[in-house]
Amino acid sequence: MNALVYHGPGHRAWEAHATPVLLEPSDAIVRIVKSTICGTDLHILKGDVPTVSEGRILGHEGIGVVEETGTAVTSFHKGDKVLISCITSCGKCDFCRRQMYSHCREGGWILGNKIDGTQAEFVRIPFADTSLYLLPPGVDEEAAVMLSDILPTAYECGVLNGCVKPGGTVAVIGAGPIGLAAILTARFYSPSVIIAVDVDDNRLEAARKFGATATVNSTDGKAIERILAMTGGAGVDVAMEAVGVPATFDICQGILAAGGHLANIGVHGIPVTLHLEKLWDRNATLTTRLVDTAATPMLLKAITDGFLQPAALVTHRFALADVMQAYDTFGRAAEFGALKVILQNN
Ligand SMILES: NC(=O)c1ccc[n+]([C@@H]2O[C@H](COP(=O)([O-])OP(=O)(O)OC[C@H]3O[C@@H](n4cnc5c(N)ncnc54)[C@H](O)[C@@H]3O)[C@@H](O)[C@H]2O)c1
Ligand SMILES: [Zn+2]
Ligand SMILES: [Zn+2]
Repeated sequence: MNALVYHGPGHRAWEAHATPVLLEPSDAIVRIVKSTICGTDLHILKGDVPTVSEGRILGHEGIGVVEETGTAVTSFHKGDKVLISCITSCGKCDFCRRQMYSHCREGGWILGNKIDGTQAEFVRIPFADTSLYLLPPGVDEEAAVMLSDILPTAYECGVLNGCVKPGGTVAVIGAGPIGLAAILTARFYSPSVIIAVDVDDNRLEAARKFGATATVNSTDGKAIERILAMTGGAGVDVAMEAVGVPATFDICQGILAAGGHLANIGVHGIPVTLHLEKLWDRNATLTTRLVDTAATPMLLKAITDGFLQPAALVTHRFALADVMQAYDTFGRAAEFGALKVILQNN
């Protein structure tokens, strides 16, 4: 088969690779139908994720068709159309029993990281019974791909941990795919205000389409003053950090209302300063989380019922064999107006 292989920082190739085989009785082999590229894949290519070794097939998102199952797999059969979760879970360990699948003793985020991933014609999925989801007939395939990572990430780390409430006020800092998915799923709870913050006007325009009630371009460094002014000086009940840099974490700290929740989603590579001298009396809650994908069944149902419509996150489509070009487009997202790119395996 062919696959997108990481060859150290800055180097990737679409090349011939051994087709995966069953290694454990709980494995399944899935033929990829659609995959996509995540911002995290770009971090890997920069060399930011040391767990990824040279020769690794990238990708932790996608849908496919079950090709073969190990003898211990009981819930899936050859020919089933499935959603691949970015988080692999054994279903049995202490963390899995607490629905903290992201910290599964034998799984967690391993696809396209510690084991070969989904930007390939075939992928091996460990613990298939508890790491795949059956897709109902007729489900929108592109919408389903958004369920592998970005929707559960935005919903669990941002909306659930941020405790978005009816009538509440929300600010989402960073309007990339994750921030936009947070705006989309925050609306489950009918907040009265959703302020999107970004430095890219195209993304702010997208944020309005996804349900932001106001936008702030933070390029001038005055986002805090402007958001405080918009909220009558009170600040917001929920500030979601969806970028992963100190500047945006600082905005979140500066706009938190009394009793507010700062829900961090972004992956941070360098330290931030926690302003306890300003926050100590704010009755504030700070949360961090690696996506667990515990909400995936609910989100899948919301999509099949038509209640959640994430397909508009898809801006570009490529054949899987053109994944090198897809990376070039996704890597220059602002220039191309790219959000999510779909890779189709024909
Ligand atoms: N916690 C988790 O489990 C988890 C899972 C997946 C992704 N993530 C992280 O979530 C974050 C968002 O992911 P994404 O794919 O949407 O990323 P992205 O890079 O596509 O989007 C980030 C957005 O932030 C904007 N931005 C950059 N600097 C800014 C600044 N100083 N002020 C305001 N806006 C700024 C960019 O214009 C962009 O629109 C990333 O850090 C990613 O690694 C976390
Ligand atoms: Zn991802
Ligand atoms: Zn486990």
